Amino acid sequence: MADPRLDPPRSMPTYAVRAPLVHWLGEQAEEARGVLGRYRVLDVGCGAKPYEPLFAPHATSYVGVDPVDNPRAELKGPVEALPVDDGTFDIVLCNQVLEHCDDPAKAVSELHRATAPGGRVLASTHGVMAYHPSPTDYWRWTHAGLEKLFRDNGAWASVRVTPASGTTACLGMLLSMYFDLMFRRVGLGVFARPLVAAVNTVAGAIDGRSARLREPGPGTLFANFHVVAEVAR
Ligand SMILES: C[S@@+](CC[C@H](N)C(=O)[O-])C[C@H]1O[C@@H](n2cnc3c(N)ncnc32)[C@H](O)[C@@H]1O
Repeated sequence: MADPRLDPPRSMPTYAVRAPLVHWLGEQAEEARGVLGRYRVLDVGCGAKPYEPLFAPHATSYVGVDPVDNPRAELKGPVEALPVDDGTFDIVLCNQVLEHCDDPAKAVSELHRATAPGGRVLASTHGVMAYHPSPTDYWRWTHAGLEKLFRDNGAWASVRVTPASGTTACLGMLLSMYFDLMFRRVGLGVFARPLVAAVNTVAGAIDGRSARLREPGPGTLFANFHVVAEVAR
């Protein structure tokens, strides 16, 4: 069965995180091929490597690393001490990992060290999310805090942080997660799905009408952020 993270249904409570993430990574995989040619990928905190199919057609190698015993990972180690040589990967992925690591500053400097000249880190992490240990869960960011984390921990040529989805989508996600939990508690999980799909549809439509809900500014709330951090050639 296809991994639902590659085609998240609107009935997924974390649709506001998952749908933009797969869309963004697909675009980045294509765009990087145009700029870098065929590239070497390191997937940090790879888990089940759900996004490998997006990058594999453009990659000469795709290496996963995880700190826990993981049959999908070729290498074992934490993001704070990557078991790779300096500058050996053109694309370094770090999706939904930074919130789980002990030391985000050391993690970002390691992501920089592993990236080849001209290469880029593609990272994503949460603004707002329920506690979800994997195996730990320590951190959340604002767009400004996440940009500072990257700029302070590597001589990047550029750092770009963008919200994955809007403020209404974030509120809708929290409501959806609550609906899903409550319905499942009483054994009626299947009935939460249409409700969650409706919430996600309405939330996306509201955000679509207002740049103030989609772009960072006072009063906004974002479920997830996407980071592109480039290393100079
Ligand atoms: C939420 S999962 C994300 C997995 C995958 N990147 C994805 O997008 O589906 C978090 C992953 O981070 C890994 N992880 C936790 N702490 C880590 C650390 N200090 N360094 C690297 N990976 C870590 C976990 O083992 C797990 O594979």
